[in-house]
Amino acid sequence: MSESDKEKQKIYYPLPELAENARIKSMDQYREMWKKSVENPREFWAEEAKMVDWFEPYKEVWTGSTPEDFVGKWFVGGKLNVCYNCVDRWVEKGYGDAKSLIWMGEDDTLKEFTFSELKDAVSKTANALKSLGIKKGDRVCLWLPMVSELAITMLACARIGAIHSIVFGGFSAESVKDRIDDSQCKVLVVADQVMRAGRPRPMKDNLKGIIETCPSIEHVAVVKVTGDENVYKYEKDVDFTALVAEQSTECPCEPMDAEDPLFILYTSGTTGKPKGVVHTTAGYLVYGMSTNKYVWDYSCLIDLKGDTVEGRDVWYCTADIGWITGHTQIIYSPLALGAKTVMYEGVPTWPHKGRFWEICEKLGVTHFYTAPTAIRALMKYGEEPVNKFDLSKLKMLGTVGEVCNWPEWKWYWEVVGKGTTGEKPVGRPIVDSYWQTETGSYMMVNLGAITPMKPGSCTFPFFGINPVLLDEDGNKVTKSMTQAYFAYDMPWPGLMRTVWGDHERFVKTYLTKFPGHYFTGDYAQIDDDGYYFILGRSDDVIKVSGHRLGSAEVEAAINSHEAVAESAVCPYPHPVKGSTIFAYVTLMTGVEPTEELKKEIQKHVRTTAGPAVYPEIIMFSDALPKTRSGKIMRRVLKAIATQSDIGNTMTLANPEVVQHLIDERKKLGEIKF
Ligand code: WTA
Repeated sequence: MSESDKEKQKIYYPLPELAENARIKSMDQYREMWKKSVENPREFWAEEAKMVDWFEPYKEVWTGSTPEDFVGKWFVGGKLNVCYNCVDRWVEKGYGDAKSLIWMGEDDTLKEFTFSELKDAVSKTANALKSLGIKKGDRVCLWLPMVSELAITMLACARIGAIHSIVFGGFSAESVKDRIDDSQCKVLVVADQVMRAGRPRPMKDNLKGIIETCPSIEHVAVVKVTGDENVYKYEKDVDFTALVAEQSTECPCEPMDAEDPLFILYTSGTTGKPKGVVHTTAGYLVYGMSTNKYVWDYSCLIDLKGDTVEGRDVWYCTADIGWITGHTQIIYSPLALGAKTVMYEGVPTWPHKGRFWEICEKLGVTHFYTAPTAIRALMKYGEEPVNKFDLSKLKMLGTVGEVCNWPEWKWYWEVVGKGTTGEKPVGRPIVDSYWQTETGSYMMVNLGAITPMKPGSCTFPFFGINPVLLDEDGNKVTKSMTQAYFAYDMPWPGLMRTVWGDHERFVKTYLTKFPGHYFTGDYAQIDDDGYYFILGRSDDVIKVSGHRLGSAEVEAAINSHEAVAESAVCPYPHPVKGSTIFAYVTLMTGVEPTEELKKEIQKHVRTTAGPAVYPEIIMFSDALPKTRSGKIMRRVLKAIATQSDIGNTMTLANPEVVQHLIDERKKLGEIKF
């Protein structure tokens, strides 16, 4: 075994002092509590639900039955408001002057909202939405960069019971349209422009000609970010910044039913049409709070853990709010716990390579949560940009979105966390959180203060979660280090309830392959010590820089180029992004396959699907490997792209195409990034 392999397989321990003050102090306590939580989930979740201030108490913790009604209903009959729990209650309890959301701009502007200030800002925005005719149950689409108005508008929606649908800023105007149409949004909130690395970039301009084709939209509410007068104007435009400014700070919180939808968030699946994942009010809130409290163990208003109100820990999650991580881990869970939560406008490498660490120093960050792709991007620059800053306040680190592999794990542990090496390495824990848009919050995760870590493993299940590994026929796989389908055999409050407008699709996608289970779509394995390792997707979802993209969506964007007859994409390993997109493109008869055309197709995809969706490698091919039923064999495409063993091609309708593709791939040679 090489030195590195030995290091990789060691157990790493969190700093012992973290356990002293932790809510859960030992692994024995964790195991006992976990056992109880899965044996009697109703009791466990009833206890956790006490963290919420209810307008009316719920009557039953869970009604459902497996396998018939796996999801069921949670906290049945309860009335509450998520915004009230995140904001108002802290003011009413006398913490109005305590800091809540700390927003930092690219240009170092700091907006540190106290809970009172946040309440006023959210109330004004909620009144502005009301003045545009938005009522309980209406859908509002938010397409905004990481400005404070994004956080405030989502809370404003929650306040009045409107359902927000946030679209990641890196997606295209067409994606915004698809999502608006699917859930019939009445208002679109959008920024005039975006600031990126010191320069204004277009945002609203991209809607030109597209927003006109969204009949459900009654108003386009424009947030002034740069105030540039030249951005595209549309007759349904409203100056949202001005409208908000003139509103009153009085706006009651709408009492919502526990099962009322809180938001829709679209996510990629196996078909070209993104799924509108629906999360509810009570279950999502309770699950998010519970996971954050036990995993990160930060001091917050729910439990100061000996700290003063101002001396509370500082939580910084670097995700974009356009993804589930931003929803759950920047806004809803930390604020509902009464934590100080940091939201940063910009990218990690501008104006310098140490920007994250500078923010940590400046704001006294104690808990830092990012993605492996960000770590890989930063480790290229070595230790110097990290060491320039004082990171002594940091207590815990964390990752999400993909496997945190050994090189980046080691760098994070040693360079950022200053963890020791040697026989029994000790340091700031790296929380490896495994979850999905669909699951609301963490499913498999280490409790930062106490769980011994293995690099690359998301360790053990959270409370109330029972993971199972299954083979194709649904039999349990108990053998260690054996790849299997990853599923859960009991529901939990944070699980999505449905796909917006298509409940059948929800049931078919997640609950049908293994009846009585929720199927994640991932492969996983377990080792002899019970540690779980996620091995990646079993379906057509591709993760690029931790961003979840569907093959079919990317292909649809490529196919919409006039020179393209057909295409198929697969993931290709990339040193920073984890994976990048490798596209096989068949051109229309008579079209010349040139390097220029490749660039043009790439550009076309960028504009129609958004900068987040970029086929970095294009290979022209005369045909694609298909089964007799016409399905593209993606396994073969992946193998050809990476020049690895292709395996059995017996089921192909056109096996002769394989050799052609292998030859074409050879011509591309080594791919450098
Ligand atoms: C992957 C992100 C390994 C997984 C919160 C999952 C991970 C998909 C991890 C969901 C992790 C997420 N280790 N893989 N810690 N976290 N994944 O919906 O494939 O954007 O199914 O949610 O990301 O991606 P999503």
